[in-house]
Amino acid sequence: MSDNASIAELIASQKVGWALDQRFYTDPEIYQLELDRIVTRNWILAGHASQIPDAGDYFVFYLVNESAIIVRGKDERIRALANICRHRGSLVCLENRGNTRKFECPYHGWMYDLDGKLIAARSMQEHFNTEEYGLHPVSLELLGGLIFVCFCDDPPSLEGAQRDLAEPMAMFDFENLKVAASKTYPIAANWKLAIENYQECYHCATAHPEYAKIHSLMLDPQKRDRIQGPMRRRMAACGLKEIEHDLIDTYAKPDEQGYGYSRTALFEGYKTGSRDGEPVAPLLGELKDYDGGASDFTLGPFTFFLAYSDHVVGYVFSPVDHKNCQCKIHWFVRKDAVEGKDYDRDELMWLWDVTTCADEKIIVNNWKGVNSQYYRPGPFSGMERMERRYIEWILQELSN
Ligand code: FES
Ligand SMILES: [Fe+2]
Repeated sequence: MSDNASIAELIASQKVGWALDQRFYTDPEIYQLELDRIVTRNWILAGHASQIPDAGDYFVFYLVNESAIIVRGKDERIRALANICRHRGSLVCLENRGNTRKFECPYHGWMYDLDGKLIAARSMQEHFNTEEYGLHPVSLELLGGLIFVCFCDDPPSLEGAQRDLAEPMAMFDFENLKVAASKTYPIAANWKLAIENYQECYHCATAHPEYAKIHSLMLDPQKRDRIQGPMRRRMAACGLKEIEHDLIDTYAKPDEQGYGYSRTALFEGYKTGSRDGEPVAPLLGELKDYDGGASDFTLGPFTFFLAYSDHVVGYVFSPVDHKNCQCKIHWFVRKDAVEGKDYDRDELMWLWDVTTCADEKIIVNNWKGVNSQYYRPGPFSGMERMERRYIEWILQELSN
């Protein structure tokens, strides 16, 4: 495709089942369109309610040009407020987290209460009405204690996800998790390459020796069935129901946020995703034993979870600019688990820290190659079905 083709022409000429044309990764104009149509129009995980247990507790969530204060009000309700002063637009809250009774803009001192109302503005005209200058609300939804935000006023519906993920989330008691560790991995690559990589396990056998010893996801379906069967037979006794929601089906529904859920067996001898297969934290919720499985949750285009029987790993991908993105990982354990006694942070983080460091390298190599004059999109394998569907969805959102 020539450099001068319009974005619409480029989308129309994209071959189904093939990697994206170079310009989808490198063109700043396409990136801007992605920010307008995808990044600010879909739900993304900001954190967990347990991070702000008391009235006045807050943290700030950043997403490219957007910033939201996630705060628990005096009424105990969690709200998201645009962190943008209604006077002349300064960021209001510069601390990443804390507890406060009000937010004071550092520029000229306008003051806002915990639900965003403007409560003081010095030396303004007599008729100035503070009620008209509250911080803008940002869309927020709670799902099993998880805080999702969306930086638009008419976000896609979460109805399907709320209905179908409620039971799987309850099995692992998402509501009563706490964040035991978080780490941000900067990745010098276009954001789509990072999420595409997360969505396929074609690379797992070559790039992730640690993961490949534990997880069976990269096996072909017949081989996987041989270990999937025994796990399924163990599940009920451990307190787990067999539930499956195919992400690919939910992408098809317009105006609804895509979601998915499935459980896959770990190799024999592995109770959880740990160095030696032994537990790294106490069992979650009401689980009675280890079934030797791990559940994949997808909620929206940026947020993924992997629920083992004793911990949950949450992955949040977001762009930084068109050449840089990040993956933020949260490791969750049950909220009454005590660090040093019930879990060791390093052991808890081990698998997904080594795996994500390896991913960062392969994604950056991919980005370097994609920028070359010799780059031509190649065909996907059967193991890249999710990635393929993801790309189709991106193209559909860009052409809307
Ligand atoms: S920009 Fe916030 S008080 Fe002026
Ligand atoms: Fe990977």
